[in-house]
Amino acid sequence: MCGIVGYAGNRDSSTVLVDGLKKLEYRGYDSAGIAVFENGVIKVVKAKGRLNDLEEKMQETGVPQGHCGIGHTRWATHGEPSDVNSHPHGSKTLSIVHNGIIENYLELKEKLIRKGYTFDSETDTEVVAKLLDYYYKGDPKAAVLRVIQAVKGSYALGMIFKDYPDVIFAVRKDSPLIVGLGEGENFIASDIPAILKYTRNYYLIEENELVELTKDKVTVYNLDLEPVEKEVYTADWDMEAAEKGGYPHFMLKEIYEQPEAFRKTVSPRLKDGLPDLEFSGALTPAFIRSIEKIHIVACGTAMHAGLIGKNVIEALGRIPTEVAIASEFRYCDPILGKNDLVVIVSQSGETADTLAALRLAKSRGVPVLALVNVVGSSIAREADCVLYTWAGPEIAVASTKAFTVQMALFYLLAIEFARVRGELTDAGAASYCGKLMEIPDRMQEVLQNSEDCKYFASKFQNAENLFFIGRGLDYALSQEGSLKLKEISYIHSEAYAAGELKHGTISLITDQVPVVALATQSHLFEKTRSNIKEVVTRGAKVLLVAAEDMISKNEETKYVLAVPSVGDLFMPLLAIIPLQLFAYYTAVLRGCDVDKPRNLAKSVTVE
Ligand code: AGP
Repeated sequence: MCGIVGYAGNRDSSTVLVDGLKKLEYRGYDSAGIAVFENGVIKVVKAKGRLNDLEEKMQETGVPQGHCGIGHTRWATHGEPSDVNSHPHGSKTLSIVHNGIIENYLELKEKLIRKGYTFDSETDTEVVAKLLDYYYKGDPKAAVLRVIQAVKGSYALGMIFKDYPDVIFAVRKDSPLIVGLGEGENFIASDIPAILKYTRNYYLIEENELVELTKDKVTVYNLDLEPVEKEVYTADWDMEAAEKGGYPHFMLKEIYEQPEAFRKTVSPRLKDGLPDLEFSGALTPAFIRSIEKIHIVACGTAMHAGLIGKNVIEALGRIPTEVAIASEFRYCDPILGKNDLVVIVSQSGETADTLAALRLAKSRGVPVLALVNVVGSSIAREADCVLYTWAGPEIAVASTKAFTVQMALFYLLAIEFARVRGELTDAGAASYCGKLMEIPDRMQEVLQNSEDCKYFASKFQNAENLFFIGRGLDYALSQEGSLKLKEISYIHSEAYAAGELKHGTISLITDQVPVVALATQSHLFEKTRSNIKEVVTRGAKVLLVAAEDMISKNEETKYVLAVPSVGDLFMPLLAIIPLQLFAYYTAVLRGCDVDKPRNLAKSVTVE
């Protein structure tokens, strides 16, 4: 996820662009840049780092002087944060900024290289810029139409052409884009915060609408280049609310971003219906076939994603898989075999214990695959192979969308490992991949029932202690549900294997002790129901989270959260959402600082 802005008007465009980018830093902040028409020439300044690094560079190289330009603040997906990978990208003819992921950029890059183009960066965006240059014959709109026919993936593009000074072109597919409407000035932006300082009036640009913008005129075209009438919206948000997209907290916004994050992480990794994982180095099919054991190592929520990963890898790939807490793994002199694989999971890619675990594994000569959300982070750089989650920046300390896309990568790995090792036929693998692609729509259905979660949170908000119980995948997921509740609502909670309760802990279940029972696994439902009966007869107040096709069997509890049935194996990808919302609304009701819980940091870079 990145932030793009554009301005045409009478103000100093460099100031307006940098101001706007500052309001979009929540969309990405590892590098930034602007391109401005200065005396009819496009002047580009861009730098790795935060916006103040860009401002320093502008002071060194000269602030572009003009009244029209485009800008970008980056969240790296292809190519680590660096000056050369930062946007804008372009040619002698044009300059562009891009938010999104171009899935077929390598194929297009090869074609352009054969046509004599050279590339400076590792980005998919530079490929779009050079493709636009290739198709440009003097008519920007015609060139844009050719580009959007050729590219696959998501994009919001801001573009300027040397031959058209003080004119901005823009187009979008799957990534957001608005047009800000001012007096003698107009804007493009990824989101409203970038324009609020200047205007509250805007157009929402729809899929494959093409914008041509000057300081005095905005024309929106359809793909037949026919002008389109647009409704003017007026933003009534204050700045802070706008940065959260109108949500009260980043955490809620990121919970609702999960369907999009899931699509962006999974769909570029499916080719002809099968996993297409950019394995590099050690992870050859021969090595995959030789793997004798997998060690998943992480902390906190990332470790919980590993628990789901263990279940699905063993279920499909039949590879013995262990999950280790990184701070334990690094000091326990782990037993690692020469045919083992270590999978390191980290949203930030900077967690000290997890990085240490990676280094230990590498010191033993064991190949390391990392699942990371931050491109170019320490863990990403030191792993033998990296699969990035494309969740975009996760601002809230409590991890939600990053967790879900970490799970998504584990499902893809499990399917691919199973296929390569002959545990699944191609048809079987394709069937599972088809299931994965249904998930974002099912997630949307779950998100529409958030009022139920708010209601149940109100019933449990005063709990001092709370139990999460489940079996199999439900037990694994209950550990993430428990952590979410603990870390933002400060209620002490504990995840327990439902079948294990009677071996001691059930002594704590007395009248009105709250229990969240996960029962999404149809093959274990009756067993979990027995455990629910055990706690209900001892007075527990139970919230049942179950697949909707199992709910009719429930007789024990009045509080029930139904989740669409997508098959036992895939239920964690949906059941996590009510648990996140339950924790969120409980924390809000308890007046907690949801986005910045006490004592916590987004990235624990110390032991
Ligand atoms: C998640 O809600 C917590 N903030 C925390 O457990 C986090 O998952 C853990 O610190 C690991 O962080 P990482 O994924 O960046 O390595």
